[in-house]
Amino acid sequence: MKICVIGTGYVGLTTGACLAYIGHDVICTDCDKEKIAGLRQGRLPIYEEHLPDVLAAGVQSRRLQFTSEIAAAIEAAEVIFVCVGTPPDRDGKANMAAVEQVTRQIAEVARGHKWVVGKSTVPVRTAERIEKTLRTYAHGRFTFGVISNPEFLREGTGIYDFFHPDRIIIGRDHAGAEACMRALYAPVLEGRFDCPAHGRPAQACGWRAPVWLATSTASAELIKHAANSFLSLKITYANAISDLCELAGANVEEVLRGIGLDPRIGPQFLRPGIGFGGFCFPKDLSAFHEIAAELGYDFRLLAEVQAMNDARPRQFIAKLRDALWVLDGKRVGVLGLAFKPGTDDIRLSPACVIVRELLRVGMRIRVYDPQAMERARRELLPPEGSAALEYCESGEAVAEQAEALLILTEWPQFLALDWAAMAARMTRLLVLDGRNLFPLGQLEAFGYEYISIGRPTNLAAVTLQPEVALPAGS
Ligand code: UDX
Repeated sequence: MKICVIGTGYVGLTTGACLAYIGHDVICTDCDKEKIAGLRQGRLPIYEEHLPDVLAAGVQSRRLQFTSEIAAAIEAAEVIFVCVGTPPDRDGKANMAAVEQVTRQIAEVARGHKWVVGKSTVPVRTAERIEKTLRTYAHGRFTFGVISNPEFLREGTGIYDFFHPDRIIIGRDHAGAEACMRALYAPVLEGRFDCPAHGRPAQACGWRAPVWLATSTASAELIKHAANSFLSLKITYANAISDLCELAGANVEEVLRGIGLDPRIGPQFLRPGIGFGGFCFPKDLSAFHEIAAELGYDFRLLAEVQAMNDARPRQFIAKLRDALWVLDGKRVGVLGLAFKPGTDDIRLSPACVIVRELLRVGMRIRVYDPQAMERARRELLPPEGSAALEYCESGEAVAEQAEALLILTEWPQFLALDWAAMAARMTRLLVLDGRNLFPLGQLEAFGYEYISIGRPTNLAAVTLQPEVALPAGS
């Protein structure tokens, strides 16, 4: 099929590249001409595992093209994916300016018949508005159907997620829309692709047929916000349990494993830490809260989740203050800036919130992240006048004269750092692990004092005591 993808952010670029990989003719377009010029020269704007290979395959087969000529891209397509950003406004609502602008562009240049597919995360009833806008500005020059097809791609595993979805949701209010989307996703639905990670057929790399769920457009739009908000809530619940464990002297890992084994709860998204971040959960949560309010529903559960998550970085800093007493003027090493491992994205990353706050209170920071250094240099702007942030070439280097090391992103690489050599460079052997990356006991073996989330700091509390022997004859 001939497809146009408007917007080459995480969602658009991954979707466009994968659709070309499964055999469609895809033109990706974006109003950012520089980005398109870079993509044409093979320069990727983001770090995403396997994306370079999938893009290269598309370009080589000539099924994937990039252009800043949006009108031409729209004209050539049967199906138009709208993947532009919906960033949060000051009041937490999703800003729909880009979606509206793209809709009007489509209305102005389209001819024949077009399917317009919304992939951007949008407030419920956006499809209705898109439809109305198309009708208003198209003046009958073409026929169309609007489809909502929410994406569930996680950053860092977006390519895997495209080929191995649990479900494909199609919101459609028009006859023919579902058949069009079924034809478009047929290779993924039927496992007819070679896995980009290994080049082996889908069946040989764990592919399972996804559930196909066709709904109304309003339901599809709600599913996306409801899913992300539920996951945010689940993480926040795990964080609350970790606080309780600290107060009660219990181990959050044991408690969460105990509850996650109940299949009605499940073990995923129960990792406690310094809070969720990234450009989806925080913004979707506040947008969903606002949408509910506009519809006349007070979804205060979501407001509480947001407030509790916002408090996580402060709680972590309180632990550091408790351990170091005075923060002003002290040096710490920071491992990790990305909002999660596997990405260079630092948008709304709790790690960056912590770094900024520590700089504000006068700490000196040496920092390292395996992927996010370049973006951090551009985007992580320390408070004005602060020259206390140093970027290091390796994880080991952040330890130099540090009073403490802070693990803020759970990159697996950090497990393999030379922790003995790092200890020799530090002023005080203290690690605060904001992601519970290490098993208890591992860093203590190097002589570190180790403080994590919801787990006992005193190793003696973790070591099982011998059972008390009962007196003979009792
Ligand atoms: C999310 C959704 O998972 C995806 O389906 C959606 O469409 C886009 O938003 P993403 O933002 O890439 O994906 O990251 P995700 O892996 O969901 O993690 C989000 C945040 O939650 C990260 O900051 C992560 O560190 C945090 N998290 C996740 C936890 O703190 N604990 C957990 O148990 C899981």
